[in-house]
Amino acid sequence: MPYHRIRPLLFSPVKFKILQKLKKEIVVSGEEIAKSVKISRSGVWKWIKALRKEGYVIKGSTKKGYFFAGSPDRLFPEEIYKPKMRRFGKNIYFFKKVSSTMDIAKELAQKKVPEGTIVIAEKQLSGRGRLGREWVSPPGGIYFSVILYPKIPLMDVPLINLMASTVVAESIKELYKLKPRTKWPNDVLIGEKKVCGILIELACEPDRIKWVVLGIGINANTDRRFINKIENSTSIKLELKKKISVVELFNSVLEKLNREYRQLNHGRFRKILSKWKNLSSTLKKRVKIITPEGEIKGTAIDVSTRGALLVKLKDNKIKEVYAGDCIHLKKVGRAY
Ligand code: BTN
Repeated sequence: MPYHRIRPLLFSPVKFKILQKLKKEIVVSGEEIAKSVKISRSGVWKWIKALRKEGYVIKGSTKKGYFFAGSPDRLFPEEIYKPKMRRFGKNIYFFKKVSSTMDIAKELAQKKVPEGTIVIAEKQLSGRGRLGREWVSPPGGIYFSVILYPKIPLMDVPLINLMASTVVAESIKELYKLKPRTKWPNDVLIGEKKVCGILIELACEPDRIKWVVLGIGINANTDRRFINKIENSTSIKLELKKKISVVELFNSVLEKLNREYRQLNHGRFRKILSKWKNLSSTLKKRVKIITPEGEIKGTAIDVSTRGALLVKLKDNKIKEVYAGDCIHLKKVGRAY
């Protein structure tokens, strides 16, 4: 579905301020909100009605005062807006459903929107994964694309994959005490099951990168009936046997992305690599990598400073692999 027919929800400063006020105070009157946000009392009432319709639980009335009793846990721009962050979380395009956040983000990148612009969707109708695969995107998952203008050489772009998967794994680990692991080049696993996939699309000129769109899909509250359709996948909800807050997870990922991307742009690759290695499920495993040039089999021994996987082959030679579909083979067996 072409996205220009579906209108995005953009950040509303008034809605943001009203929500801030409601969340801060125990009980707040319509008049107080009107004063602090600088709108009329009937304007406040209209917003309260709209917020309730969106799923915010706001008890009380304009006379008795309102009190905030709960959020719908949806990734509305006002829930993820980060005024203090330099790049991310300022420009947000939110869609209830969309073809793919990648398509919209690419169009925006071509229009040179500010770096860190985020396109987020609650559902994708034709979400895509690596190597032309489909990315099943039912409600409950987190689907977003971020526009980047990195100041790194094209050869170093694989590091963006490693950075993004590390950030997602760290957030899942911190928030839920699960044991997520990074899988080369750009997945996050729980056990051997995939919980997050990352896709990078870019445009470049001979001597520089024009833009990169970083797409991240996380199976957050994705239900079993969808997960069962996807081979070897899981969701955080399935692992924990309870729903999680997508707003909390998204905000944690965004804050870490903001921090790590700064490091990347300053050429501080070592830190990113060492974090990825610490979380890696691929290293020390026997792997089969399917590349356009053919299959490579061996033991994954390290990643290079450019994010390539170093694979020790049968004849003990080390092969540097930049891209491909990596399959973890059984741990036991000959360790070549
Ligand atoms: C993969 O593992 O193959 C990559 C999956 C990437 C999925 C994300 S969801 C947000 C963005 N929009 C898409 O259509 N794909 C990426």
